[in-house]
Order: sequence, then structure tokens, then C-alpha cells
Amino acid sequence: MKALVLASPGQISVIDKPQPEPKRGEVLVHLKSAGLNHRDQWIREGKYPGIQEGVTLGSDGAGQVIRAGSPEGEPWVGREVIINPNVGWGGNPAVQSADYKILGMPVDGTFAEYICVSVDRLADKPAHLSTAQAAALPLGGLTAFRAVFTKGELKAGEKVLISGVGGGVAQFAFQFAMAAGAEVWVTSGSQEKIDYAVKLGAKGGFNYKEEGWHKAAKKAAEGGFDLIIDSAGGNPMVQLIDTLRPAGRLVYYGATLGVPANIPLHKMFWQQIRLQGSTMGNDEEFQEMIRFVENHQLEPIMEEPLPFDSIMEAFDAMKEGRQFGKLVVLI
Ligand SMILES: NC(=O)c1ccc[n+]([C@@H]2O[C@H](COP(=O)([O-])OP(=O)(O)OC[C@H]3O[C@@H](n4cnc5c(N)ncnc54)[C@H](OP(=O)(O)O)[C@@H]3O)[C@@H](O)[C@H]2O)c1
Repeated sequence: MKALVLASPGQISVIDKPQPEPKRGEVLVHLKSAGLNHRDQWIREGKYPGIQEGVTLGSDGAGQVIRAGSPEGEPWVGREVIINPNVGWGGNPAVQSADYKILGMPVDGTFAEYICVSVDRLADKPAHLSTAQAAALPLGGLTAFRAVFTKGELKAGEKVLISGVGGGVAQFAFQFAMAAGAEVWVTSGSQEKIDYAVKLGAKGGFNYKEEGWHKAAKKAAEGGFDLIIDSAGGNPMVQLIDTLRPAGRLVYYGATLGVPANIPLHKMFWQQIRLQGSTMGNDEEFQEMIRFVENHQLEPIMEEPLPFDSIMEAFDAMKEGRQFGKLVVLI
């Protein structure tokens, strides 16, 4: 089968790999679509912990179960599924175990024609989604769900700012917050993406590349935001903190721009501001996220899917931030 592997640091390539065989407790899934995450690009660049050469990349996939390795997998044979990318979250819902892994490094992932996964990693593909849309959902949907609801504790009517709304996780955070009845504002480096978010129901948007955008944002939100969801980190995080109202929360699940130099600790303790990290989500949240997407009939914002042979093009688009939302390949 064809598979996209990390050939050497900084080098990914499509190679021929033996088709895996399902072991006891596993099923063989014939993948039809796979979604990209920034994680895949970090791995390509060698900027991810625990990188191993030869591993098939990709955390998100949708396809059909074609064989079971043992009887518990039999009821799944023939079903259209998506795959929970968590491996070994463990028994504590608050934090993943020390053995926690994510599909696609160091465990073989979804950028391949076939994958073997444990039966308990399967979920039925939401009926309202195409296979390509479903492949966009798992990692981004899970991360956004935990950040917005479990960690962000978003309530209807609150003012929330989704930073970098064009991101694959961020567009889910945007849609989840809208569906939950919040007043949603966005930032982006692209006016086109802001305009699109406003068309979809955002109250307004700000270009984070413009000087002083955060002052305009705080004014527009009449005193500041209750919640901010961010993955950029870096020095702009200080501007984000500036736009929070007293007792506001900033939940971050990434640090694309690195570590901020001047976190305003005095202001934060005086104003009871919470800075909260979040990563992926536990298995219960994965199920809840799918139910939420089904109940609200949400569809990922994504680019036109590309053929698997054009996967490098998809990686490059992600690196340059050209996409709005998710990038998906058809296998
Ligand atoms: N902890 C976790 O569980 C977890 C899970 C998923 C992702 N992540 C991390 O979160 C980050 C985003 O992941 P992704 O897959 O959503 O990536 P992505 O689809 O490539 O999105 C990245 C987005 O970041 C935004 N951005 C760039 N510079 C920014 C700035 N100065 N201020 C605000 N936003 C900015 C851009 O938004 P615009 O296009 O709108 O300008 C861009 O689209 C990555 O660092 C990733 O590793 C962590």
C-alpha cells in the first residue's frame, strides 16, 4: 500500500509499505480520506518530540472497516468510521497518562491506504458528513471541544474571541462557540477570512497584523472578552490578555509563535485572569464532540480535498497558512 512516511528529518515521502494485518482487538480500516493537522507539518520540520523515521504520518482518517482481527471487531466490519486519534489517554479525564500517544507519530497514522486500530478507537461516521468532511473532524474537533467547553467553560451569551480563525482547530472552535449561543468575534491575518467568518455569523473580526488591533477589539467588545481561544502564543498573547475583561479566561492549545516574553502577571492576578493550557481531549470528550457536531449538523470549514498524490501541496499550503480551515486528501 502507499503511505506517507517521515523518511528522514525534514523529509517526508510517499513509499510502498506492506499492508498491516489486524491483531486481536484490532480492525483493518480501508482509509478513504485523511485530514492534515499542523502537527504533521511540525513533524515534517523535525520540530516535534519523539520523532521516529519510517512512521506513517497522519492523525485524522475516515474510511470503511474491512476486516476484524478478533470477534469483538466483527460488528464493525462494513461500517463507515472515523478514528479517535488518542492512544492511551488513561483513566484521568483531567490529563492524559504518561504513555499517551497520538496517531501518526510514533504510532503509524492515516496517510495510507490501510490502517489497523483498536476497536475502541472507532466511531461511526456522522451520517450528515461526507467521508472527506468526516476525515477533517477528529483531532481538530476534539481539541477545539475541550478548549471551548471543558477548559473554556463557555456559556451562551458570553463574548468569545477565536484567534486565527483560519486554523484547522480554530474554525471548529468558532463553529462550536456559535452553536453554543456565544457572541463570537475572530482574528485572522487575512481580511478575506474575517469577512467569511462574519458571513457565517461572527459579530466582527480584527486583523492581527494591524497595529493596535487589540485596542479596537476591546472597545468593540465593550469591556473585553469573557473567553479567548488561541494557538499562536508568542508575544501577541500579551495583546490577547489585554482584550480580556476582568475574570476572563484565555485557553491556549498551541504555541506556534513560541513563548511570550512579557506575561503581565501583576495585571493578571489583580484582574483574576485565568491562563489555561489544553491538549487534545479524553475519549468521553471525543464522543461528546461527535454528538455535538451531529446535533448541530455542523460541517467542517475546509478547502477542496486534494488527491493523495498532491499531499505535498497540502502540506505546503498549511505551512504558508493559505487555507481556511481543514486540508483533506482523498486516498
Ligand atoms: N495541544 C493540542 O492538542 C493541539 C492540537 C491541535 C493543534 N495544536 C497546535 O495548535 C496550532 C494550530 O494547529 P492547527 O492544526 O489548527 O494549524 P493550522 O490549521 O495550520 O492553523 C494555524 C493558524 O494559526 C493562525 N495564526 C498564525 N499566526 C497567528 C497570529 N500571530 N495570531 C493568531 N493566529 C495566528 C493562522 O490563522 P489565519 O489563517 O486566520 O491568519 C493559521 O491559519 C499548532 O501550533 C498546533 O501544533 C495543538
